[in-house]
Amino acid sequence: MNVSYATGDPLAEAADATIVPVGTVDGKADPAHLAAVDRALAGELARLVAEARFTGSLGSTMAVSTLGHMAPRRLVLTGVGAADAVDRRAITRAWGAAAVAARDAGASAIVSSPPPTGTALTPDAALAAGAEGVRIALYRFDTYRGAGRGDGPTKEVASCRFIGGTIPDGEAARALILAEAIAAGVALARDLVNEPANVLNPEAMAERARRVAAASNLEIEVLGVEDLAEIGAGAITAVGRGSANGPRLIRLRYRPNAEDAEPVANAGTAARVVGLVGKCITFDTGGYSIKTYEGMLEMKGDMAGGAAVLGTMSALRALRCPVAVDATICAAENMISGEAFRPGDVLTAMNGVTIEVLSTDAEGRLVLADGLVDAARRGATELIDLATLTGAAVVALGEGTTALFASDDPLADRLLRAAALTGERAWRMPLIEELNEKIKGDVGDIKNTGGRGGGAITAALFLQRFSEGLPWAHFDIAGSARSAKGGPAGPKGATGVGVRTLLAYLTQPSA
Ligand code: BES
Ligand code: MN
Ligand code: ZN
Repeated sequence: MNVSYATGDPLAEAADATIVPVGTVDGKADPAHLAAVDRALAGELARLVAEARFTGSLGSTMAVSTLGHMAPRRLVLTGVGAADAVDRRAITRAWGAAAVAARDAGASAIVSSPPPTGTALTPDAALAAGAEGVRIALYRFDTYRGAGRGDGPTKEVASCRFIGGTIPDGEAARALILAEAIAAGVALARDLVNEPANVLNPEAMAERARRVAAASNLEIEVLGVEDLAEIGAGAITAVGRGSANGPRLIRLRYRPNAEDAEPVANAGTAARVVGLVGKCITFDTGGYSIKTYEGMLEMKGDMAGGAAVLGTMSALRALRCPVAVDATICAAENMISGEAFRPGDVLTAMNGVTIEVLSTDAEGRLVLADGLVDAARRGATELIDLATLTGAAVVALGEGTTALFASDDPLADRLLRAAALTGERAWRMPLIEELNEKIKGDVGDIKNTGGRGGGAITAALFLQRFSEGLPWAHFDIAGSARSAKGGPAGPKGATGVGVRTLLAYLTQPSA
Protein backbone atom coordinates (compact mmCIF):
# COMPACT_ATOMS: atom_id res chain seq x y z
CA MET A 1 0.00 0.00 0.00
CA ASN A 2 1.25 3.42 -0.95
CA VAL A 3 0.75 6.24 1.58
CA SER A 4 1.40 9.84 0.55
CA TYR A 5 0.76 13.45 1.49
CA ALA A 6 -0.14 16.55 -0.53
CA THR A 7 -1.70 19.93 0.13
CA GLY A 8 -5.11 20.66 -1.39
CA ASP A 9 -8.79 19.99 -0.81
CA PRO A 10 -9.51 16.34 0.07
CA LEU A 11 -13.17 16.65 -0.89
CA ALA A 12 -12.24 17.77 -4.41
CA GLU A 13 -10.18 14.62 -5.09
CA ALA A 14 -11.57 11.53 -6.80
CA ALA A 15 -11.44 8.51 -4.46
CA ASP A 16 -13.26 5.27 -3.68
CA ALA A 17 -13.51 6.52 -0.12
CA THR A 18 -12.49 9.72 1.62
CA ILE A 19 -11.90 9.77 5.36
CA VAL A 20 -13.43 12.73 7.19
CA PRO A 21 -12.84 13.16 10.93
CA VAL A 22 -15.85 14.11 13.06
CA GLY A 23 -15.56 15.19 16.67
CA THR A 24 -18.12 15.13 19.44
CA VAL A 25 -19.70 18.24 20.94
CA ASP A 26 -22.39 17.98 23.63
CA GLY A 27 -22.75 14.25 22.91
CA LYS A 28 -23.45 14.84 19.21
CA ALA A 29 -21.47 14.84 15.98
CA ASP A 30 -19.87 18.29 15.65
CA PRO A 31 -21.94 20.17 13.01
CA ALA A 32 -18.91 22.28 12.08
CA HIS A 33 -17.11 19.13 10.89
CA LEU A 34 -20.06 18.11 8.74
CA ALA A 35 -20.77 21.52 7.22
CA ALA A 36 -18.64 21.34 4.05
CA VAL A 37 -19.94 17.90 3.11
CA ASP A 38 -23.47 18.76 4.13
CA ARG A 39 -23.53 21.67 1.65
CA ALA A 40 -22.33 19.39 -1.15
CA LEU A 41 -25.05 16.84 -0.29
CA ALA A 42 -27.86 19.40 0.05
CA GLY A 43 -28.30 18.96 3.79
CA GLU A 44 -28.75 15.22 3.53
CA LEU A 45 -25.63 14.30 5.53
CA ALA A 46 -26.73 15.95 8.76
CA ARG A 47 -30.02 14.05 8.57
CA LEU A 48 -28.32 10.68 7.93
CA VAL A 49 -25.87 11.26 10.75
CA ALA A 50 -28.64 12.15 13.17
CA GLU A 51 -30.77 9.16 12.16
CA ALA A 52 -27.84 6.74 12.56
CA ARG A 53 -27.09 8.32 15.99
CA PHE A 54 -23.50 8.77 14.83
CA THR A 55 -21.98 10.92 17.57
CA GLY A 56 -18.36 11.08 16.48
CA SER A 57 -17.29 8.99 19.46
CA LEU A 58 -13.76 7.61 19.19
CA GLY A 59 -13.60 4.37 17.19
CA SER A 60 -17.05 4.70 15.60
CA THR A 61 -17.37 5.10 11.82
CA MET A 62 -20.13 5.74 9.34
CA ALA A 63 -19.83 5.16 5.58
CA VAL A 64 -21.99 7.33 3.30
CA SER A 65 -22.34 7.04 -0.47
CA THR A 66 -22.16 10.37 -2.32
CA LEU A 67 -24.08 8.96 -5.32
CA GLY A 68 -22.20 11.04 -7.82
CA HIS A 69 -22.70 14.40 -6.11
CA MET A 70 -19.07 14.71 -5.01
CA ALA A 71 -15.62 13.71 -6.26
CA PRO A 72 -15.24 10.95 -3.62
CA ARG A 73 -17.60 8.03 -4.25
CA ARG A 74 -18.04 7.51 -0.54
CA LEU A 75 -17.19 9.25 2.66
CA VAL A 76 -16.06 7.41 5.73
CA LEU A 77 -16.82 9.58 8.74
CA THR A 78 -14.51 8.59 11.58
CA GLY A 79 -15.19 9.59 15.15
CA VAL A 80 -12.33 11.34 16.96
CA GLY A 81 -14.23 12.10 20.18
CA ALA A 82 -13.94 15.30 22.20
CA ALA A 83 -11.40 17.80 20.84
CA ASP A 84 -9.45 18.07 24.10
CA ALA A 85 -8.88 14.28 24.18
CA VAL A 86 -7.42 14.03 20.69
CA ASP A 87 -3.91 12.58 20.98
CA ARG A 88 -1.66 10.16 19.11
CA ARG A 89 -3.52 7.14 20.49
CA ALA A 90 -6.92 8.51 19.48
CA ILE A 91 -5.81 9.33 15.95
CA THR A 92 -4.17 5.97 15.41
CA ARG A 93 -7.38 4.28 16.49
CA ALA A 94 -9.72 6.56 14.52
CA TRP A 95 -7.73 6.15 11.28
CA GLY A 96 -7.43 2.40 11.85
CA ALA A 97 -11.20 2.11 12.22
CA ALA A 98 -11.75 4.29 9.13
CA ALA A 99 -9.32 2.26 7.01
CA VAL A 100 -11.05 -1.00 7.96
CA ALA A 101 -14.47 0.51 7.15
CA ALA A 102 -13.20 1.77 3.78
CA ARG A 103 -11.58 -1.54 2.93
CA ASP A 104 -14.65 -3.53 3.93
CA ALA A 105 -16.78 -1.26 1.73
CA GLY A 106 -14.53 -2.29 -1.16
CA ALA A 107 -12.45 0.88 -1.50
CA SER A 108 -9.06 0.54 -3.16
CA ALA A 109 -8.01 4.20 -3.55
CA ILE A 110 -8.46 6.08 -0.28
CA VAL A 111 -8.07 9.79 0.34
CA SER A 112 -7.99 11.26 3.83
CA SER A 113 -8.32 14.68 5.37
CA PRO A 114 -5.33 15.51 7.57
CA PRO A 115 -5.80 14.19 11.12
CA PRO A 116 -6.62 16.88 13.72
CA THR A 117 -3.83 18.02 16.03
CA GLY A 118 -5.89 18.24 19.24
CA THR A 119 -4.19 20.23 21.96
CA ALA A 120 -0.81 18.50 21.98
CA LEU A 121 0.20 17.34 18.51
CA THR A 122 2.07 18.99 15.68
CA PRO A 123 0.52 18.50 12.21
CA ASP A 124 3.30 16.13 11.17
CA ALA A 125 2.91 14.05 14.35
CA ALA A 126 -0.83 13.83 13.69
CA LEU A 127 -0.10 12.75 10.12
CA ALA A 128 2.33 10.07 11.37
CA ALA A 129 -0.28 8.77 13.81
CA GLY A 130 -2.92 8.60 11.09
CA ALA A 131 -0.63 6.78 8.69
CA GLU A 132 0.42 4.36 11.44
CA GLY A 133 -3.23 3.66 12.23
CA VAL A 134 -4.08 2.91 8.60
CA ARG A 135 -1.11 0.59 8.08
CA ILE A 136 -1.55 -1.32 11.32
CA ALA A 137 -5.28 -1.79 10.81
CA LEU A 138 -4.93 -3.15 7.28
CA TYR A 139 -2.28 -5.76 8.20
CA ARG A 140 -3.05 -9.25 6.98
CA PHE A 141 -1.30 -12.61 7.36
CA ASP A 142 -1.78 -14.12 3.91
CA THR A 143 1.34 -16.27 3.53
CA TYR A 144 -0.82 -19.39 3.32
CA ARG A 145 -3.92 -17.93 1.71
CA GLY A 146 -4.24 -20.31 -1.24
CA ALA A 147 -6.66 -20.29 -4.15
CA GLY A 148 -8.60 -23.12 -2.52
CA ARG A 149 -10.70 -20.98 -0.20
CA GLY A 150 -13.27 -20.21 -2.85
CA ASP A 151 -14.12 -16.80 -1.39
CA GLY A 152 -12.68 -14.88 -4.32
CA PRO A 153 -10.03 -12.14 -4.35
CA THR A 154 -9.55 -10.32 -1.06
CA LYS A 155 -10.41 -6.65 -0.71
CA GLU A 156 -7.18 -4.67 -0.65
CA VAL A 157 -6.46 -0.98 -0.24
CA ALA A 158 -3.87 0.08 -2.83
CA SER A 159 -3.29 3.69 -1.77
CA CYS A 160 -4.03 6.18 0.96
CA ARG A 161 -3.42 9.84 0.10
CA PHE A 162 -3.57 12.37 2.94
CA ILE A 163 -4.59 15.69 1.42
CA GLY A 164 -4.93 19.07 3.08
CA GLY A 165 -3.21 21.33 5.60
CA THR A 166 0.18 22.89 5.05
CA ILE A 167 2.82 20.44 6.23
CA PRO A 168 6.16 21.18 4.52
CA ASP A 169 7.14 18.38 2.11
CA GLY A 170 10.21 17.27 4.05
CA GLU A 171 8.34 17.01 7.35
CA ALA A 172 5.44 15.13 5.80
CA ALA A 173 7.79 12.69 4.09
CA ARG A 174 9.65 12.12 7.35
CA ALA A 175 6.38 11.53 9.23
CA LEU A 176 5.27 8.94 6.69
CA ILE A 177 8.65 7.17 6.84
CA LEU A 178 8.42 6.96 10.65
CA ALA A 179 4.91 5.54 10.46
CA GLU A 180 5.98 3.01 7.86
CA ALA A 181 8.96 1.85 9.93
CA ILE A 182 6.83 1.44 13.05
CA ALA A 183 4.09 -0.42 11.16
CA ALA A 184 6.67 -2.66 9.46
CA GLY A 185 8.10 -3.57 12.87
CA VAL A 186 4.62 -4.42 14.12
CA ALA A 187 3.89 -6.44 10.96
CA LEU A 188 7.13 -8.38 11.34
CA ALA A 189 6.26 -9.29 14.93
CA ARG A 190 2.74 -10.29 13.87
CA ASP A 191 4.03 -12.40 10.96
CA LEU A 192 6.41 -14.27 13.25
CA VAL A 193 3.69 -14.99 15.81
CA ASN A 194 1.18 -16.06 13.15
CA GLU A 195 3.73 -18.35 11.49
CA PRO A 196 3.15 -22.00 12.48
CA ALA A 197 5.72 -23.85 14.59
CA ASN A 198 6.53 -26.37 11.86
CA VAL A 199 7.95 -23.45 9.91
CA LEU A 200 9.21 -21.13 12.63
CA ASN A 201 11.56 -23.17 14.85
CA PRO A 202 14.49 -21.65 16.78
CA GLU A 203 16.92 -21.77 13.83
CA ALA A 204 14.29 -20.28 11.51
CA MET A 205 13.88 -17.44 14.02
CA ALA A 206 17.65 -16.95 13.99
CA GLU A 207 17.54 -16.79 10.19
CA ARG A 208 14.83 -14.10 10.33
CA ALA A 209 17.00 -12.17 12.78
CA ARG A 210 19.98 -12.43 10.41
CA ARG A 211 17.84 -10.92 7.67
CA VAL A 212 16.79 -8.04 9.92
CA ALA A 213 20.38 -7.45 10.97
CA ALA A 214 21.56 -7.32 7.34
CA ALA A 215 18.76 -4.95 6.34
CA SER A 216 19.27 -2.46 9.16
CA ASN A 217 22.95 -2.69 9.84
CA LEU A 218 22.86 -4.44 13.23
CA GLU A 219 25.47 -6.78 14.60
CA ILE A 220 24.23 -10.31 15.18
CA GLU A 221 25.57 -13.41 16.88
CA VAL A 222 23.65 -16.68 17.20
CA LEU A 223 24.65 -19.20 19.87
CA GLY A 224 23.76 -22.89 19.38
CA VAL A 225 23.73 -25.77 21.87
CA GLU A 226 27.49 -26.10 22.13
CA ASP A 227 28.05 -22.36 22.58
CA LEU A 228 25.35 -22.33 25.24
CA ALA A 229 27.03 -25.16 27.15
CA GLU A 230 30.29 -23.25 26.97
CA ILE A 231 28.89 -20.10 28.58
CA GLY A 232 27.08 -22.13 31.24
CA ALA A 233 23.55 -21.34 30.07
CA GLY A 234 22.13 -24.46 31.69
CA ALA A 235 18.52 -23.28 31.86
CA ILE A 236 17.79 -22.56 28.19
CA THR A 237 19.82 -25.67 27.30
CA ALA A 238 17.56 -27.85 29.46
CA VAL A 239 14.35 -26.39 27.99
CA GLY A 240 15.58 -26.95 24.44
CA ARG A 241 16.92 -30.45 24.96
CA GLY A 242 13.68 -32.32 24.25
CA SER A 243 13.40 -31.00 20.71
CA ALA A 244 15.14 -32.08 17.52
CA ASN A 245 15.22 -28.33 16.76
CA GLY A 246 17.89 -27.15 19.18
CA PRO A 247 17.80 -23.86 21.12
CA ARG A 248 19.33 -20.61 19.92
CA LEU A 249 20.34 -17.53 21.87
CA ILE A 250 20.15 -14.66 19.40
CA ARG A 251 22.15 -11.54 20.22
CA LEU A 252 21.56 -8.34 18.26
CA ARG A 253 23.36 -5.05 18.74
CA TYR A 254 22.21 -1.62 17.63
CA ARG A 255 24.42 1.44 17.99
CA PRO A 256 23.15 4.85 16.86
CA ASN A 257 24.93 6.67 14.06
CA ALA A 258 27.21 9.28 15.60
CA GLU A 259 24.98 12.20 14.54
CA ASP A 260 21.88 10.62 16.15
CA ALA A 261 23.33 9.54 19.49
CA GLU A 262 22.00 11.23 22.61
CA PRO A 263 24.69 13.12 24.53
CA VAL A 264 26.06 11.40 27.64
CA ALA A 265 24.73 13.23 30.70
CA ASN A 266 27.95 13.42 32.72
CA ALA A 267 31.42 12.80 31.40
CA GLY A 268 32.77 9.65 32.99
CA THR A 269 29.40 7.89 33.42
CA ALA A 270 28.87 4.74 31.39
CA ALA A 271 26.82 5.21 28.24
CA ARG A 272 23.26 3.99 28.45
CA VAL A 273 22.56 0.62 26.83
CA VAL A 274 19.02 -0.75 26.91
CA GLY A 275 18.94 -4.55 27.07
CA LEU A 276 15.81 -6.07 25.51
CA VAL A 277 15.19 -9.74 26.28
CA GLY A 278 12.46 -11.81 24.62
CA LYS A 279 10.93 -15.19 25.42
CA CYS A 280 10.85 -17.08 22.15
CA ILE A 281 9.40 -20.55 22.76
CA THR A 282 8.51 -21.48 19.19
CA PHE A 283 6.15 -24.13 20.54
CA ASP A 284 5.20 -24.89 24.13
CA THR A 285 3.77 -28.38 24.67
CA GLY A 286 4.44 -27.98 28.39
CA GLY A 287 7.03 -30.75 28.17
CA TYR A 288 6.45 -33.67 30.58
CA SER A 289 4.19 -31.34 32.60
CA ILE A 290 2.16 -31.55 29.42
CA LYS A 291 -0.57 -29.10 28.53
CA THR A 292 -4.19 -30.03 27.84
CA TYR A 293 -5.64 -29.98 24.31
CA GLU A 294 -7.15 -26.55 24.98
CA GLY A 295 -4.03 -25.23 26.66
CA MET A 296 -1.78 -26.20 23.76
CA LEU A 297 -3.90 -24.74 20.95
CA GLU A 298 -2.29 -21.31 20.64
CA MET A 299 1.21 -22.25 21.75
CA LYS A 300 2.84 -21.50 18.40
CA GLY A 301 2.52 -17.93 19.68
CA ASP A 302 4.66 -18.51 22.76
CA MET A 303 7.46 -16.68 20.98
CA ALA A 304 5.66 -13.31 20.91
CA GLY A 305 8.18 -11.73 23.30
CA GLY A 306 11.05 -12.59 20.99
CA ALA A 307 8.98 -11.45 18.00
CA ALA A 308 8.34 -8.07 19.64
CA VAL A 309 12.04 -7.65 20.35
CA LEU A 310 12.96 -8.43 16.73
CA GLY A 311 10.18 -6.19 15.40
CA THR A 312 11.50 -3.36 17.56
CA MET A 313 15.11 -3.89 16.49
CA SER A 314 14.04 -3.84 12.82
CA ALA A 315 12.81 -0.23 13.11
CA LEU A 316 15.55 1.42 15.19
CA ARG A 317 17.79 2.44 12.27
CA ALA A 318 14.95 3.98 10.24
CA LEU A 319 13.73 5.81 13.35
CA ARG A 320 17.28 7.04 14.05
CA CYS A 321 16.95 5.83 17.61
CA PRO A 322 19.40 7.83 19.76
CA VAL A 323 19.94 5.07 22.35
CA ALA A 324 22.17 1.97 22.15
CA VAL A 325 20.14 -1.25 22.31
CA ASP A 326 21.29 -4.84 22.85
CA ALA A 327 18.71 -7.55 22.19
CA THR A 328 18.72 -11.12 23.44
CA ILE A 329 16.15 -13.51 22.01
CA CYS A 330 15.88 -16.80 23.89
CA ALA A 331 14.63 -19.31 21.32
CA ALA A 332 13.78 -22.92 22.15
CA GLU A 333 11.06 -25.47 21.51
CA ASN A 334 9.53 -27.09 24.62
CA MET A 335 8.96 -30.68 23.53
CA ILE A 336 8.98 -34.23 24.88
CA SER A 337 11.54 -36.94 24.06
CA GLY A 338 14.02 -39.29 25.73
CA GLU A 339 16.34 -36.31 26.02
CA ALA A 340 13.85 -33.86 27.49
CA PHE A 341 14.25 -32.30 30.94
CA ARG A 342 11.94 -33.48 33.73
CA PRO A 343 10.24 -32.28 36.90
CA GLY A 344 12.74 -32.62 39.73
CA ASP A 345 15.76 -31.79 37.59
CA VAL A 346 18.13 -29.20 39.04
CA LEU A 347 19.60 -26.74 36.54
CA THR A 348 22.42 -24.24 36.89
CA ALA A 349 21.81 -20.90 35.18
CA MET A 350 24.53 -18.69 33.70
CA ASN A 351 25.00 -16.74 36.93
CA GLY A 352 25.43 -19.94 38.96
CA VAL A 353 21.97 -19.86 40.56
CA THR A 354 20.58 -23.41 40.85
CA ILE A 355 16.95 -23.95 39.82
CA GLU A 356 14.71 -26.84 40.84
CA VAL A 357 12.27 -27.67 38.08
CA LEU A 358 8.83 -28.33 39.53
CA SER A 359 7.03 -27.91 36.23
CA THR A 360 8.55 -28.22 32.78
CA ASP A 361 5.67 -25.98 31.67
CA ALA A 362 7.20 -23.03 33.52
CA GLU A 363 9.87 -22.95 30.81
CA GLY A 364 9.68 -19.26 29.87
CA ARG A 365 11.29 -18.05 33.09
CA LEU A 366 14.05 -20.63 32.58
CA VAL A 367 15.10 -19.41 29.14
CA LEU A 368 14.79 -15.79 30.31
CA ALA A 369 17.00 -16.49 33.33
CA ASP A 370 19.95 -17.12 31.03
CA GLY A 371 18.87 -14.38 28.61
CA LEU A 372 18.74 -11.69 31.31
CA VAL A 373 22.15 -12.64 32.69
CA ASP A 374 23.59 -12.70 29.16
CA ALA A 375 22.20 -9.22 28.43
CA ALA A 376 23.57 -7.88 31.71
CA ARG A 377 27.02 -9.35 31.06
CA ARG A 378 27.12 -7.83 27.59
CA GLY A 379 26.85 -4.40 29.20
CA ALA A 380 23.20 -3.40 29.41
CA THR A 381 22.59 -0.60 31.91
CA GLU A 382 18.85 -1.41 32.15
CA LEU A 383 16.88 -4.55 31.27
CA ILE A 384 13.41 -4.92 29.75
CA ASP A 385 11.99 -8.36 29.03
CA LEU A 386 8.85 -9.37 27.17
CA ALA A 387 7.24 -12.78 27.56
CA THR A 388 4.00 -14.70 27.14
CA LEU A 389 4.84 -15.88 30.61
CA THR A 390 1.79 -16.82 32.68
CA GLY A 391 -1.86 -17.77 32.38
CA ALA A 392 -2.16 -16.00 35.74
CA ALA A 393 -1.51 -12.62 34.05
CA VAL A 394 -4.49 -13.31 31.77
CA VAL A 395 -6.65 -14.21 34.77
CA ALA A 396 -5.58 -11.03 36.56
CA LEU A 397 -6.07 -8.48 33.77
CA GLY A 398 -8.07 -10.24 31.06
CA GLU A 399 -7.27 -10.28 27.37
CA GLY A 400 -5.81 -7.16 25.78
CA THR A 401 -3.83 -5.80 28.71
CA THR A 402 -0.13 -6.33 29.40
CA ALA A 403 1.05 -6.82 32.99
CA LEU A 404 4.08 -4.67 33.77
CA PHE A 405 6.44 -5.45 36.65
CA ALA A 406 9.46 -3.31 37.43
CA SER A 407 12.16 -3.00 40.06
CA ASP A 408 12.53 0.69 39.31
CA ASP A 409 9.74 3.30 39.55
CA PRO A 410 11.10 5.84 37.02
CA LEU A 411 11.60 3.05 34.48
CA ALA A 412 8.07 1.77 35.07
CA ASP A 413 6.62 5.28 34.73
CA ARG A 414 8.43 5.96 31.47
CA LEU A 415 7.30 2.62 30.04
CA LEU A 416 3.69 3.23 31.09
CA ARG A 417 3.82 6.68 29.47
CA ALA A 418 5.18 5.16 26.26
CA ALA A 419 2.44 2.52 26.27
CA ALA A 420 -0.25 5.17 26.81
CA LEU A 421 1.02 7.21 23.85
CA THR A 422 0.53 4.28 21.52
CA GLY A 423 -2.68 2.84 22.95
CA GLU A 424 -1.08 -0.49 23.88
CA ARG A 425 -2.76 -1.09 27.23
CA ALA A 426 -0.44 -1.88 30.14
CA TRP A 427 -1.00 -2.02 33.88
CA ARG A 428 1.64 -2.09 36.58
CA MET A 429 1.57 -5.03 39.00
CA PRO A 430 3.37 -5.28 42.33
CA LEU A 431 6.51 -7.30 43.07
CA ILE A 432 5.37 -8.49 46.51
CA GLU A 433 8.61 -9.39 48.20
CA GLU A 434 7.07 -11.75 50.75
CA LEU A 435 6.02 -14.02 47.90
CA ASN A 436 9.68 -14.88 47.34
CA GLU A 437 9.00 -17.42 50.10
CA LYS A 438 6.92 -19.42 47.61
CA ILE A 439 9.80 -19.93 45.18
CA LYS A 440 12.46 -20.70 47.77
CA GLY A 441 14.28 -23.91 46.75
CA ASP A 442 14.31 -27.13 48.76
CA VAL A 443 17.47 -28.66 47.30
CA GLY A 444 18.46 -25.80 44.98
CA ASP A 445 18.44 -22.00 45.33
CA ILE A 446 15.06 -21.39 43.71
CA LYS A 447 12.03 -23.31 42.37
CA ASN A 448 10.54 -22.59 38.96
CA THR A 449 6.93 -22.40 40.18
CA GLY A 450 5.34 -20.90 43.24
CA GLY A 451 1.86 -22.43 43.13
CA ARG A 452 -1.40 -20.95 41.84
CA GLY A 453 -1.78 -17.85 44.01
CA GLY A 454 -0.07 -14.77 42.58
CA GLY A 455 1.31 -16.81 39.67
CA ALA A 456 2.24 -13.80 37.54
CA ILE A 457 3.98 -12.19 40.51
CA THR A 458 6.04 -15.22 41.54
CA ALA A 459 7.08 -15.64 37.89
CA ALA A 460 8.25 -12.01 37.87
CA LEU A 461 10.05 -12.45 41.20
CA PHE A 462 11.81 -15.46 39.71
CA LEU A 463 13.04 -13.32 36.80
CA GLN A 464 14.18 -10.56 39.13
CA ARG A 465 16.76 -12.97 40.59
CA PHE A 466 18.49 -12.90 37.21
CA SER A 467 18.39 -9.14 36.64
CA GLU A 468 21.86 -8.75 38.15
CA GLY A 469 20.91 -5.70 40.21
CA LEU A 470 20.11 -3.56 37.14
CA PRO A 471 16.95 -1.47 36.78
CA TRP A 472 14.64 -4.07 35.26
CA ALA A 473 11.13 -4.23 33.83
CA HIS A 474 9.11 -7.22 32.71
CA PHE A 475 6.11 -7.22 30.37
CA ASP A 476 3.92 -10.32 30.74
CA ILE A 477 2.12 -10.30 27.37
CA ALA A 478 0.31 -13.65 27.74
CA GLY A 479 -3.05 -11.84 27.52
CA SER A 480 -2.19 -9.23 24.89
CA ALA A 481 -0.05 -10.99 22.27
CA ARG A 482 -3.08 -12.37 20.46
CA SER A 483 -6.57 -11.04 20.03
CA ALA A 484 -9.61 -13.25 19.51
CA LYS A 485 -11.32 -10.71 17.28
CA GLY A 486 -10.22 -8.01 14.90
CA GLY A 487 -10.58 -4.29 15.51
CA PRO A 488 -9.17 -0.88 14.56
CA ALA A 489 -5.66 -2.06 15.54
CA GLY A 490 -5.66 -5.07 13.24
CA PRO A 491 -7.27 -8.41 12.45
CA LYS A 492 -7.69 -11.27 14.89
CA GLY A 493 -4.54 -13.22 15.69
CA ALA A 494 -1.15 -11.78 16.56
CA THR A 495 -1.14 -8.15 17.77
CA GLY A 496 2.59 -7.44 17.68
CA VAL A 497 2.14 -5.96 21.15
CA GLY A 498 5.23 -4.38 22.66
CA VAL A 499 6.78 -3.07 19.46
CA ARG A 500 5.06 0.31 19.52
CA THR A 501 5.56 0.76 23.26
CA LEU A 502 9.26 -0.07 23.07
CA LEU A 503 9.78 2.16 20.04
CA ALA A 504 8.03 5.06 21.75
CA TYR A 505 10.15 4.45 24.85
CA LEU A 506 13.41 4.29 22.90
CA THR A 507 12.83 7.10 20.42
CA GLN A 508 10.61 9.72 22.09
CA PRO A 509 12.66 11.74 24.54
CA SER A 510 9.51 12.86 26.35
CA ALA A 511 8.31 9.29 26.99
N1 BES B 1 3.32 -20.10 27.67
C1 BES B 1 2.71 -20.35 28.92
C2 BES B 1 1.85 -19.18 29.40
C3 BES B 1 0.67 -18.79 28.55
C4 BES B 1 -0.59 -19.22 28.88
C5 BES B 1 0.82 -17.94 27.48
C6 BES B 1 -1.67 -18.83 28.11
C7 BES B 1 -0.28 -17.56 26.70
C8 BES B 1 -1.53 -18.01 27.03
C9 BES B 1 3.76 -20.63 29.97
O1 BES B 1 4.91 -21.27 29.51
C10 BES B 1 3.13 -21.54 30.96
O2 BES B 1 2.84 -22.65 30.60
N2 BES B 1 2.94 -21.05 32.18
C11 BES B 1 2.35 -21.82 33.21
C12 BES B 1 3.18 -21.64 34.46
C13 BES B 1 2.80 -22.56 35.58
C14 BES B 1 3.20 -23.98 35.21
C15 BES B 1 3.52 -22.12 36.82
C16 BES B 1 0.93 -21.31 33.43
O3 BES B 1 0.71 -20.11 33.35
O4 BES B 1 0.05 -22.13 33.65
MN1 MN C 1 4.79 -23.36 29.45
ZN1 ZN D 1 5.44 -20.95 27.58
